[in-house]
Parts: sequence; structure tokens; C-alpha cells
Amino acid sequence: MKGSIMTSSPTFDIAKIRKDFPILSQIQDGKRLVYLDSGASSQRPTSVLDAMDHLYTHSYANVHRGVYQVAERATNAYEDARSKVAKFIGAPSANEIIFTKNATEAINLVAHSWGRANLQSGDAVVLTIMEHHANIVPWQMLAAEIGFEIRWVAIDEDGMLDTSNLDVLLDGAKMFAFTAMSNVLGTLTDTKALCAAAQKAGAVTLIDACQSVPHMPTDVVDMGADFIVFSGHKMLGPSGIGVLWGRAELLDAMPPFLGGGGMILNVTKDGFTPDGVPGKFEAGTPPIAEAVGLGAAVDYLNELGMEAVREHEVSLTAYALRTLTETVGETLTIYGPSEPAARGGVLSLELADVHAHDISQVLDEHAVCVRPGHHCAKPLMRHLGVNATARASLYIYNDTDDIDALAEALVQARDFFSI
Ligand code: ALA
Repeated sequence: MKGSIMTSSPTFDIAKIRKDFPILSQIQDGKRLVYLDSGASSQRPTSVLDAMDHLYTHSYANVHRGVYQVAERATNAYEDARSKVAKFIGAPSANEIIFTKNATEAINLVAHSWGRANLQSGDAVVLTIMEHHANIVPWQMLAAEIGFEIRWVAIDEDGMLDTSNLDVLLDGAKMFAFTAMSNVLGTLTDTKALCAAAQKAGAVTLIDACQSVPHMPTDVVDMGADFIVFSGHKMLGPSGIGVLWGRAELLDAMPPFLGGGGMILNVTKDGFTPDGVPGKFEAGTPPIAEAVGLGAAVDYLNELGMEAVREHEVSLTAYALRTLTETVGETLTIYGPSEPAARGGVLSLELADVHAHDISQVLDEHAVCVRPGHHCAKPLMRHLGVNATARASLYIYNDTDDIDALAEALVQARDFFSI
């Protein structure tokens, strides 16, 4: 069966897709590059590179400032990207899209702005044990200042969120901030049910959607979310741009996060009047070319169809779970849900007691790129009882050949370390 399994619909042509990503055609030490680190950062298609290059070459100027034609073209391109992103996630209005430096900054924005205005000593914020540090540390910093409690939703043995006591955890909570998909386990959370539970308890929700928005259809209204965040560089766009979406009423009521040019209506010696959203939250020169690149990435993903992207990844993940287990044997542990439909294409691997960095270095000798480490999720790693895993993460340009190359490289690593 190996190699003969279809991993996508006939319209999902991996060979054609790969041609759009120049970096993937490189040869490393005589071997084809096998890029399995899109969970950390994806690669970019030529159309994204071209869109940014075109802006810089023909239409670059600062936005929302100049009245000359080049500046107007730059502003239009920037705002066009905002509209594309809004449509991509089903946001009711483009004004609800705030461009930030990255998803981490977007969470910090909510913690500082919404958090300072709404949280008091004695309140509670609920997180899950699967959160990335970006959705833990900002709340811990604020808790240290304000004195609220942080409560944790646990996971079960299969890596699924344990919601058996969610009502108790949410009782009296003001904020429930959770991931849509674990960057370590690939676990998908039931965002709609979690938002409904939070709403019933009177808590506001923030969804860390960094690992889900690039890989499946997203509809923020259907989810029932209050805030969601994600980053451009994990969804074929450039680094240096993140997105915060929030419900208009919440964003309108929030104070600014950073102060400076571009976020005010008026400034006097005595004070300032902030602009409305989104300008209020975009102080200083924003990531202009990065937004345009992200808009082009959205176009590329729309062309493929997000249903097809998800279908491809479920199928490739199923192939990977089966092939890695069969080929490498019982020395290999794959963390996360056993059911491919319950997870995304993130495979955290452990090969007996060999350190993940050593495994990853051997894989690199076979031109297989994976990320070793704690994946910025130390509370989860502690819960799992591991210091580090070697994480392979899949995307639109990966296929069964890549999984076979990973399996063969892991066998070489297993034999090299005599386990
Ligand atoms: N958050 C990114 C990851 O999971 C960097 O690797």
C-alpha cells in the first residue's frame, strides 16, 4: 500500500503546488529537501513573494498619510489585504481586523487592553494545559499585577481536552483563552462548544487559532468567539504580521494598547483622543508589505479551497500515523490523538530516550526538517512527562513521499543510536 495511497482530492495537485514554492526545490547534501516544520513557519509561494516585490517596486509608501497617488495605492493595497483576511475568517467587518506584529503581540494586546479594563483582583481567567507560552505568559504577567486566579483545563490520555469539569472551572471566570489546535499534539478543540460554555458562564473567549486558520475553514461567527488571533507566517504569508479579530463592541470599548502616530484623532498638550478601530490599535507604521503578502497568501489558499486543504491533511496525517508506527516500530512514540479526524498534521515524536535534538540532527543529515524542543509549551510537556519532542508538521506541499522520507530517516536514527 505504501506510496500508492491517495492523500488528496484529484484537484489537489501536490507536484503543481510544490512548483509554486521555489525553496522546496533545493537539494541538500544530494537529497531532496523534505520540509516538515510548517507548524513553526510555513514556506511562501511565488505569488506571495511577487505581491510584496510588486508593492515595493511600484506602489510603496506609508499608509493613511500621503495624498499622492503612490501613497493612495499603498493604502488601498493595505486595506484590501484587511478585507481579504476578514472574508477568509468570516468576520462581519474588515474594521474588526487588527494587524499586529505577530499572534503573540495580538494576545498581549487583548491581555493589556481588555484585561486591564475588565479584570480585577479575585477574578479568574481559564486556560488549557495545551496552551503555547504566548497564551500563558501575558495572562501570568497580568495576574501578577492585578491578582486574579488562573485555572487550567486538563487533557485526557489521548490528548483530548478534558471538559468534564469545565462548568466548574468557568464558574465566575471573566476570560477563557484556549487554543483551537495544539502546536504539540495536533489536538483540535471544539471551539464552538467551548465558546458556548464560556458565554453561558459570562466569560469572554480568546482563541489562539495560529495552528488552525492555516489548515481548515474558519468562521468566527459560527464559532461564537469574541477574539481570535493568528499569524501570517504559518499560512504562507510573511513573518512580521499577525492578526487579531475581535467583536466590534468589544474592540470599540477597549482602550488603546500602544500609543503613537496613526492611532489618534487628536493630541493636545493635555492628552489625546484615540481613533476608532482598527486605527486605534495600529500605532506607528504598520507592516505594509507584510499585509499585502498575507493578502496574497489568502488568495492562494482560497484558490486551493480550505475544505480541500483540511481533507488533504487529515488523509496525510492518517498515512503518517500508520506508516511511522509500522516502519519505525515500538521504539517510536507519537503524542496526541490517535484518531486523524480529531487532530491536525502535527506529529510530536519521541524515539526511546534519545534526545529530540539528536534525532533532529540525524534527520537533517537526510534533509528532513523537523523542530526539536519544548515547542513553547512547557506546562504541557511537563504534563506529558517529556522534556522535548521532535515535531514534524505538515502542510499543503507535503505528500506521502515526505512521510516515507521521514520514516526512513527515523529508522536510520534508531539504528545509529542502537535502540
Ligand atoms: N509557535 C511556533 C511553533 O509551534 C513557533 O513552532
